[in-house]
Amino acid sequence: MHMEHFHYKDDFLFCEDISIADVAKSTGTPVYIYSKASFLEAFKEFDSPFAGIDRLVCYSMKANSNLNVCRILYDAGSGIDCNSGGEFYRALKAGVDPRKIIFTGVGKTEQEIRMVLQHPIIMLKVESIQELHLVDAVAGELKTKAPIGIRVNPDVDPKTHPYISTGLSENKFGIESRQALEAYGLAATLPNLRIVGVDMHIGSQITQVGPFVEACRKLALFAEELNHRGIRLEHFDIGGGLGISYDGGTSSTPAELAKELLPVLKGVGCKVLFEPGRFLTARAGALVTRLLYTKQNNKKNFYIVDAAMNDLVRPSLYRAYHEIRPVHRTSIGSLKADIVGPICESGDFLAKGREIQKSEQGDLFAVMSAGAYSFAMSSNYNQRRRAAEVMVSGKNFYTVRERETYDDLVAGEHLVPELTSR
Ligand code: LLP
Repeated sequence: MHMEHFHYKDDFLFCEDISIADVAKSTGTPVYIYSKASFLEAFKEFDSPFAGIDRLVCYSMKANSNLNVCRILYDAGSGIDCNSGGEFYRALKAGVDPRKIIFTGVGKTEQEIRMVLQHPIIMLKVESIQELHLVDAVAGELKTKAPIGIRVNPDVDPKTHPYISTGLSENKFGIESRQALEAYGLAATLPNLRIVGVDMHIGSQITQVGPFVEACRKLALFAEELNHRGIRLEHFDIGGGLGISYDGGTSSTPAELAKELLPVLKGVGCKVLFEPGRFLTARAGALVTRLLYTKQNNKKNFYIVDAAMNDLVRPSLYRAYHEIRPVHRTSIGSLKADIVGPICESGDFLAKGREIQKSEQGDLFAVMSAGAYSFAMSSNYNQRRRAAEVMVSGKNFYTVRERETYDDLVAGEHLVPELTSR
């Protein structure tokens, strides 16, 4: 059971031993606050049930690519799953050994392929025949053998939001099994490739074990077929996707997943790779925001806060639910309100029709489970500076990323004299 690292002490919300109101006072709002202990606990919770097999959990850093988050998980024993040149660069900056990096991406550029092949990564996961040829050519130029796996699309319904389901044949990801067999046949003939693994990833925020079991069985049969054809694998990568409960409902645990998957995974005779992102990070973060104004019309109450869809887009984009807690809990009662941000879009909301503590201008709220796909998906829309990020560890807290400055907003941009009339 995951421990609650965000908790009330005398009705004030704390992250570990730090009062959230104190952090907000020192850094301003909006601010992301993370609990180091929560990342570590989630890693252990995910990794230990699979202790019976040769494995490496590779944190999918797209969920939260802060250098310190990557480093904390890496120090705990994790590898890293990168999805772009930028993520790879960050992983190296965080001090990650490339021997613990896997590289994903449905549309890798030649420059990205060249970048990663200059390092001894675990595996580059290929998603099309054309990419296979390009990787072979680049590896040839670099006089190296590219360690590759092919991402197989197992055609399994993960039963999640359509935007984050990836393992159905209608999705753009991977190569469907029959073609993938041919792709392996081709890869075996290309001189600069070294086939090391097989890969899949069926989607995200999957709360049941069924789809994982079905997909793993399919991938295990596929690996067996490769074996028959003389292709031996070292790595069996089952991707990420295990969900968390955002609203207190049930969500399968890694222990439940392991119970069902271990019998299949034990049979594959390879090192098993996992790519969890959300599970390791979502619960470790909260977005703290201040109430700017309240207003009501004859239909609704609005709480206008200083965090917006540029800071946290999940509610607007997926209609995702995030619990919102008052930083100072009172017995004043509640009302139903839309919690909205300052951006000029009706789609800019953190919650709609939410029962929330009656609050006043200046009060603080914490938007919970905002450690994954939250800061990572933030933007500068409406020329809002991206929020600061703070890491709490016990009785200490550290600003791990400063709030952007106005100068950051125009960095790299210049007025071109030829375009101006005066
Ligand atoms: N591996 C691959 C190849 C992926 O594409 C992803 C996520 C992961 C691993 C990690 O999945 P996780 O364990 O975090 O579910 N922005 C969406 C989620 C998009 C997931 C994209 N791929 C959201 O906010 O819900």
